[in-house]
Amino acid sequence: MSGNCAYESTEMSALLGGTLRPGGFSLTDRGVTGCHWSAADSLLDLGCGAGATVGYLARKYGLTVVGLDPSQKLLATAKKNNPNKEFLFGSGEAIPCKDESFQGVLSECTLSLMTDLPVVMKEVYRVMKTRGMFFITDVYARNPEALEGIKTHQFTSCMRGLYDLNQLQTVVTDAGFEIVLLEDHSELLRQLLVKTIFEFGSMQAFWLKTGGTCAAGFQDTLKMCKPGYFMMIARKVE
Ligand SMILES: C[S@@+](CC[C@H](N)C(=O)[O-])C[C@H]1O[C@@H](n2cnc3c(N)ncnc32)[C@H](O)[C@@H]1O
Repeated sequence: MSGNCAYESTEMSALLGGTLRPGGFSLTDRGVTGCHWSAADSLLDLGCGAGATVGYLARKYGLTVVGLDPSQKLLATAKKNNPNKEFLFGSGEAIPCKDESFQGVLSECTLSLMTDLPVVMKEVYRVMKTRGMFFITDVYARNPEALEGIKTHQFTSCMRGLYDLNQLQTVVTDAGFEIVLLEDHSELLRQLLVKTIFEFGSMQAFWLKTGGTCAAGFQDTLKMCKPGYFMMIARKVE
């Protein structure tokens, strides 16, 4: 991956202190409860980043979680922090695992970075056991009409891949999942933005540190989209 990824920057990891998403483990805990996962279950963390969730779910719930990520840099950190856990190099578009390997899949602030969502959904469906649960948290546009403008920016951040939530629900159900829960958690994103401004002086200063010149104009376009944060739980149906 290119070095121009906000989530690979040292600034981002220092700001968030482990996880690379709004809300830390608060929504992860809700996901474990909502998906009814137990210690017997084997899960896939799709886009595991530095492996924070893999370690957390093992420590707190005794869950076996395999981490998958296309960033060699983040995978190296994940392995260093979790020496006894399994991490795979790969992407959501081509998951290097056998059919029906997992009871569940987590995708915490990662789907927004993937380019071909229908292909990713097909892959997630393939590697999950029937009635397995798919737990998603991510950014979305509360004003999806403004989304066209954001695609013109060559900047690798989940903020560039904000979802139109209606379109996302269609892609999820078309792939063979039924949505069992969908909640708004935009407050967590707001808290992160406040923290970022407190630490860096402004969002512009943060984007410039993590995205260089590619971030120019990005901020204004982003505001028009009214970014929010959601949590979704979907079940694989036969
Ligand atoms: C915002 S970070 C979140 C990381 C981790 N889930 C967490 O919350 O700490 C996004 C992650 O998605 C990964 N990613 C980007 N493109 C991906 C793809 N096509 N398939 C799977 N993961 C991807 C990145 O490498 C990065 O680790």
